[in-house]
Amino acid sequence: MGSTPRRFFIYLALCITLAALLPVYIWLTGAGHGLFSKTTVYRGFPLLKKTGMGSNFVSLMQRLDSGQKAYRIPEMTSCVPRRHIVFFRVSKCSSTTLYMLLQRAVVKYRLRVLRPKTNKIHFYRVHPYRPTKITVHDAKYNPKLTYDVLMDHMIYDADVINKMMPSDSFHLAILREPFAQFISAYDYFRLWVKFRVHSAEFLNHPHFYWNRSVSSRDKATYARNSMISELGFPDEREDLRDNDTFIQSYINFLDSALDFVIIVELLDECLVYLRRLLCWTMEDMLYSNANVQKKYRRPWREQNNTLYKEKHKRWSKADHQLYQHFLNKFLATLRRQGHDFFEELSIFRKAKDALDRCGVYMMFYIMWFFLLRLGKPFCEG
Ligand SMILES: *[C@@H]1O[C@H](CO)[C@@H](O)[C@H](O)[C@H]1NC(C)=O
Ligand SMILES: *[C@@H]1O[C@H](CO)[C@@H](O)[C@H](O)[C@H]1NC(C)=O
Ligand SMILES: *[C@@H]1O[C@H](CO)[C@@H](O)[C@H](O)[C@H]1NC(C)=O
Repeated sequence: MGSTPRRFFIYLALCITLAALLPVYIWLTGAGHGLFSKTTVYRGFPLLKKTGMGSNFVSLMQRLDSGQKAYRIPEMTSCVPRRHIVFFRVSKCSSTTLYMLLQRAVVKYRLRVLRPKTNKIHFYRVHPYRPTKITVHDAKYNPKLTYDVLMDHMIYDADVINKMMPSDSFHLAILREPFAQFISAYDYFRLWVKFRVHSAEFLNHPHFYWNRSVSSRDKATYARNSMISELGFPDEREDLRDNDTFIQSYINFLDSALDFVIIVELLDECLVYLRRLLCWTMEDMLYSNANVQKKYRRPWREQNNTLYKEKHKRWSKADHQLYQHFLNKFLATLRRQGHDFFEELSIFRKAKDALDRCGVYMMFYIMWFFLLRLGKPFCEG
C-alpha cells in the first residue's frame, strides 16, 4: 500500500531537484564566475579522479606536465615565476576570464592583492557612475607593505600605479576588436537607456546623440574610445581626441608602459605566450570557454557590419589605432615562434576542451550526489 506514494515522492523529489539544479548550472557556467568554469574544477580535480569520471582530464594533465618541461624554450629553464602583476581589466574584453585566472594564481602563489577601498571590483565610484583616474586614496594602500597584484577595474594613471606597485611589476592589458567591444559595452552598460536609441542608430549620428545626452562623463565613457580611455587616454579633450599625432604618441607611451597586451581574438595564442613570459605553468593559464561570447547578437546579425564598422572607426578612432598597433605587434611575435610554440598551443587547446567537458561531468556527479542524499529520508520511511 505505502509503496506507491513513496515512489511518487521520490520521483517528485527527483524532478524538483533536477529543475532546481539546471538553472543553477546554467547560471554558474554561463556567468563564468562560478563553480564549474574556473576555480572549482581546478580544486575539484581529486574528486573527479576518485570517481574515475575525469580520466581523460587526468591523462591530459599528465601529458601537460611532461610537455611543459619539453617545450620550454632554453632561456626559460632557469626562469623564476613572476609574482608582481598589474592587470588592466579593460571592460567587455573577456577580462573576467583573465581575472579568474589571476585569482587562482593569487591563491596558488600566495600573492598580496591591492584592493579598492570600495570593497568592490572598481577603484572608481559606481554610485553614481564616475570612472575617474585612479588615485592612492582609492586603494587600501599601506606604504609599509609590498603588493604583488593589482587587477580591479580602474582608469590608468601611470604615476599612481608606479608609486603603489613594485618597480618590477609585469604590466598586462587586454584588448578586443573595437567594433565588437563597442556593441558589447553598449548592451552591457545599457547605453540605449541613456541615448534612447539602439547602437546601430547611435552610430548613424553619434555626435547628435552624444551632444543631446551627455552632460557629465558617466557610463557614456563606454560609448567612445572606451578601451584606450580606460588606459588613461583623455577622450574628453576635444582638441586631442582625433589628433593622429597625439594618438600615436599615446599609443607609443602605452607600448613602453605595458609588458604584454592580450588580443581577445587570439586568446589561446596570447595565453601560451604569456605563460612563457611569466614563467608560469600551463595549468595556470587554463580557462573555460563558457565566458567567451563570440557571435554578434540580433539585430546586428542582419546589419551591414562592414558599413557600421567604418562608421565606428571614424567615431572611435583612437581605439581602432590602439587595437591595430597591438594586434600587429603580436602577429609579428607569432610569426617568430617556432614549432615548439604551436605544439604547446595544441596541447593547451586540448586541455581546455577537456576542462569544459569536465564541467559537464561535474554537474552529473553533483546531481547524483544530491539525489542520493535527498532520496534517503523517503526510502527509510
Ligand atoms: C556636438 O558638439 C561638438 C562640440 O561641442 C560640436 O563640435 C559638434 O558640431 C556638435 N555636433 C552636433 C551634431 O551637434
Ligand atoms: C596634434 O597634436 C600634436 C602633439 O600633441 C600637436 O603638436 C599638434 O599641434 C596637434 N595638431 C592639431 C591640428 O591640433
Ligand atoms: C556594406 O557596406 C560596404 C561599405 O559601405 C559596401 O561596400 C558593401 O557593398 C555593403 N554590403 C552590402 C551587402 O550591402
